[in-house]
Amino acid sequence: MYINILETPVTQYQQWLQFAIAPRPICFASTIDASGNVNLSPFSFFNLVSYKPAIVVFSVVRKMRDGSTKHTFQNILEVPEVVINICDYDMVQQMSLSSCEFAKGTNEFVKAGFTKTPATLVQPPMVQEAKVQLECKVLEVKSLGQIAGAGQLVIAEVLNMHINDSILNDAANMIDPTKLALVARLGGNWYCKVDATNLFEIDKPTTQIAIGVDALPTSIRNSSILTGNNLGQLANVVELPFVDATFSDDKLKNIFQYYALNPADMEQELHSYAKELLLQNKVHAAWQVLLAGENV
Ligand SMILES: Cc1cc2nc3c(=O)[nH]c(=O)nc-3n(C[C@H](O)[C@H](O)[C@H](O)COP(=O)(O)O)c2cc1C
Repeated sequence: MYINILETPVTQYQQWLQFAIAPRPICFASTIDASGNVNLSPFSFFNLVSYKPAIVVFSVVRKMRDGSTKHTFQNILEVPEVVINICDYDMVQQMSLSSCEFAKGTNEFVKAGFTKTPATLVQPPMVQEAKVQLECKVLEVKSLGQIAGAGQLVIAEVLNMHINDSILNDAANMIDPTKLALVARLGGNWYCKVDATNLFEIDKPTTQIAIGVDALPTSIRNSSILTGNNLGQLANVVELPFVDATFSDDKLKNIFQYYALNPADMEQELHSYAKELLLQNKVHAAWQVLLAGENV
């Protein structure tokens, strides 16, 4: 399917964008108006965009129905401060409840059943139940348009952050992703939850330059068994590995014995075995298996 955004009504392409640009973290924003009335609403057009200064952005969209602005946006124009509470699974239903179109001046802390706790540097209160709270000063509001669906981009500087000790990794004082069940928004009613069953790690190429997929031997690069992910793992080495004479592996020996007279099948078997090893993140072993095949 091909969609020309410029020629499609926003009500139609809106869901394609929401489902494709996902999952999005949720900024659960607490603001106040000039009279001190508190507002609490979720926004998933949200991200961290700078470390120093520490800047986050979120976008409050003009209502699709009539193009009117939302209370959060109005409050920010009156009092340019916001507490961004990070939404996790324990609070997701209440967070969703708070997104109802309550009348101006309604305190969603009360409606959604959250506990207010004072912030230290800004006036809007924090959600006590959130495991991370960011106190922010609004630097700028950039209007992306005046019509229905137009975002009003809030650019805010994080002044301080509060982190609940329960989500810290004991050794390094870092946030442990297995302890903070983050939730994120997709399209429609769909959300996703981060937990130990769906987290995975990738060794990132940091200080050294990887060889890249184009430098892999042709038989590996054109393998009908190895996937794009497999090639990405193999190519993330700083130089083409050499045969390691100390590498010894029973399964490799068996493949060699069994397929001694059939090099084409042997290559398939070796690639399948390397794939298995890569799934377990055993990149060195996978390379040794593949190099053994290269030298047949
Ligand atoms: C998870 C979630 C994410 C949302 N993200 C956005 C968003 O990024 N921008 C937006 O304008 N509205 C978003 N909404 C809708 C607002 O939360 C909703 O319009 C809310 O009533 C605004 O409240 P307010 O008028 O009190 O500011 C989202 C709702 C939910 C439940």
